[in-house]
Amino acid sequence: MGDVLLAIESSCDDTGAAVFVDGELRSNVVQSQMVHQKYGGVVPEVASREHLKAIVPVVTEALSKAELRAQDVNAVACTRGPGLLGALMVGYSFAKSFAASQGIPLINVDHMRAHILAHLIEEPKPNFPFLCLTVSGGHTQLVIVRDAFTFECIGQTLDDAAGEAFDKTGKMLGLPYPAGPAIDRLAKDGRPVFNFAKAKVDAFDFSFSGFKTSVLYFLRDKRSADPDFIQTHLSDLCASIQTNIVSVLMERLKEAAQHHGITEIAVAGGVSANSELRNQLSVLASQNGWNSYVPKIAFCTDNAAMIGITGYIDWKEGHQSTFDMAPDPRLTYATH
Ligand code: KG4
Ligand code: ZN
Repeated sequence: MGDVLLAIESSCDDTGAAVFVDGELRSNVVQSQMVHQKYGGVVPEVASREHLKAIVPVVTEALSKAELRAQDVNAVACTRGPGLLGALMVGYSFAKSFAASQGIPLINVDHMRAHILAHLIEEPKPNFPFLCLTVSGGHTQLVIVRDAFTFECIGQTLDDAAGEAFDKTGKMLGLPYPAGPAIDRLAKDGRPVFNFAKAKVDAFDFSFSGFKTSVLYFLRDKRSADPDFIQTHLSDLCASIQTNIVSVLMERLKEAAQHHGITEIAVAGGVSANSELRNQLSVLASQNGWNSYVPKIAFCTDNAAMIGITGYIDWKEGHQSTFDMAPDPRLTYATH
């Protein structure tokens, strides 16, 4: 049967389970929590309770899709963080109990490293070293990936993450949480006719708080003259917000790639599902002679397949975690 690894992800509002056999993905199940929409953002305690409901059915479905049973599993990988502690604890406790009861190894996986190593799930895979722009709801990082264990973070956000910038400005437009996918959809019928602030920060860092405030004030002023402004200009507003965020990300990515002389370029995380970001990346790639890599949408947003591939690599390297949520001592994000 080969080496069977079960992977679990529960860091935020998606409960995920995946099964790998000899390093090949056999199943990948995700249950997203829709309950948070009515609150306009993820409510941590609600997230933990939803994970509790979903964890057993999601794992059962992943095993059944892989046509395997619990006793066939030889190792368990699970997200240790970063994420919401209560949410992480559900997946982690499940994984720990599963591993302990079967007498098999448990492998702790860093969620951000897993977003990047999602590129190793299937072909085409980037060659090392590659530069990865990781853009999610909680993080925005530019990382030089020297190999599967050596990550150098050369830039990050000083305040809001790119996904947060989408979600919070989308909320100002009255869009449900998470607003990123809705902005992407609505922007297709609009034009980027409105200009918002673009922060200039040092090195390869990012800042979105000034942009967010400029959208807020712009909408306040426009609505005081015309209360229907948002409804009548929704597509153009979405296109303008999207263009602003994506252009900031792409400018920094280009500067970093040129500075470090890297032409293998990858994007990762939920925001890399954005269609404008994908278009801009392919334009930049052809202009700059890059090989660019964008994961399948299912591997961009939170999923257990990325936890599985990372756990599999660590497992095969002989790395096994203790039964606590301690950070992986070999994982260092060197910042400057
Ligand atoms: O990686 P992810 O699923 O979860 C975190 O680890 O945060 O990222 C979620 C983020 C949310 O902010 C969501 O609005 C954003 O990814 N997102 C998008 C799109 N799809 C998801 N943002 C812009 N365009 C999209 N198509
Ligand atoms: Zn994530």
